[in-house]
Amino acid sequence: MATTILVGAQWGDEGKGKIIDVLTAQADIVVRYQGGNNAGHTVWVGTDKFILHLVPSGILHPGKISVIGNGVVIDPCALVEEIEQLRVRGVAIKDNLLISETAHVVFPYHRLLDGIREQQKGKRKIGTTKRGIGPAYGDKASRTGLRMADLLAPERFTGKLRQKIRENNEIFKAFDAPPLSYTQIHRQYMECARKLRPFIADTVTWLNRAVNKGKNLLLEGAQGTMLDIDFGTYPFVTSSNSTAGGACTGTGIAPHRIDKVVGVMKAYTTRVGEGPFPTELHDGRGTLLRETGQEFGATTGRPRRCGWFDAVVTRYAVMVNGIDELAVTKLDVLDKLPKIKICVAYKVGHKVYETMPQDADILQRCKPMYEEFDGWRTSTRRARSFSQLPPQAQVYLSKLAELSGTKLGIVSVGAEREETFFL
Ligand code: GDP
Ligand code: IMO
Ligand code: MG
Repeated sequence: MATTILVGAQWGDEGKGKIIDVLTAQADIVVRYQGGNNAGHTVWVGTDKFILHLVPSGILHPGKISVIGNGVVIDPCALVEEIEQLRVRGVAIKDNLLISETAHVVFPYHRLLDGIREQQKGKRKIGTTKRGIGPAYGDKASRTGLRMADLLAPERFTGKLRQKIRENNEIFKAFDAPPLSYTQIHRQYMECARKLRPFIADTVTWLNRAVNKGKNLLLEGAQGTMLDIDFGTYPFVTSSNSTAGGACTGTGIAPHRIDKVVGVMKAYTTRVGEGPFPTELHDGRGTLLRETGQEFGATTGRPRRCGWFDAVVTRYAVMVNGIDELAVTKLDVLDKLPKIKICVAYKVGHKVYETMPQDADILQRCKPMYEEFDGWRTSTRRARSFSQLPPQAQVYLSKLAELSGTKLGIVSVGAEREETFFL
């Protein structure tokens, strides 16, 4: 596998967790490179369901090392809780987890600011997960953030935290929100620091040594291409680079050392939160996809918006990530449909767009142009090779790959590990 990046090719929740778990069998090390506990990656191991937020989805494989890279923003209390819950469920976490000392820390004032900003936006809100992600990356860019290494240096931590709480309490006053208690947060974070200390390390050097030794690395993206801060539907995006470039800046592994990029996409499209979504179905077909696909947020429980597969989006994702291979998930969700559509281009008035319009207002007005396909109306869940799929499903998958402009590598026909095949 050498060094492989895995990215979401749509608006998140493509089934990255499941595909990472499957690919971890071939990896030595799995690294999360951006985002925070806004992510929710679901992995089924037999009848056990795990939802991972900050811990890499490789943790469920004994003998593999999981790394939280420098590009991630970490809520230490949420991370401690996630580790403890995994341990209660029998997952060993000891010397198989490393946390970057330069990853930034999420504080309660980030979460509060996230909520206040959303409220202020009213109808124009982003629909964030309210985990403080935007304000935490904001502090990183403003050079006023605290990093994991600060948690291990009590004197430095104390001074910086005191200053940040003073500054943020002034903001809260303006919004009639109660001030935060420095003492309480300080105590809570020092307790988390004590628990996380054994895992905190210079992951940049450690990862590069691993690459030099010829280890197999899987770099795990959170969110998806259309939620990327530069390439997504700004401002309805998250605050980090979820695309392949983010894997280099979020781990310290240089671009020329990346061997392959895998793009995960659903056989249809979903989005959670606000913002443009050209192929969204507002009728019973959207409800059917939501119910059949169990499309409810793994982090917030919100119903996901559902629609047809959008090849303009995936073509763009192939371009900006350099996707070499597609992993198509949730094919089984389409099993009962008599007709299935794929969006091949957009139209605004008489103008046809075959590539993604960068202007958010234009994208908002885009009408999808569809090609229609016959459904297969039989279960695909037992298929373990391409040739075992019904002919209509083979046609559909081949068309997804052709329109996206790259080759099919993995197909997923159910949530479990076994319900997967390679091409
Ligand atoms: P992620 O954020 O990209 O890891 O995706 P989520 O875990 O948020 O959402 C994907 C959902 O689809 C989860 O509930 C998975 O268990 C489920 N899933 C993944 N692959 C398949 C599949 O091929 N078929 C079905 N029916 N469910 C799947
Ligand atoms: P995974 O890794 C789907 C969305 C939110 C919102 C926008 C900004 O499970 O695919 P944020 O809290 O990041 O500031 O919210 O991004 N969002 C996701 N949508 N899957 C995710 O992660 C998401 N993480 C954030 O709904 O629209
Ligand atoms: Mg998810």
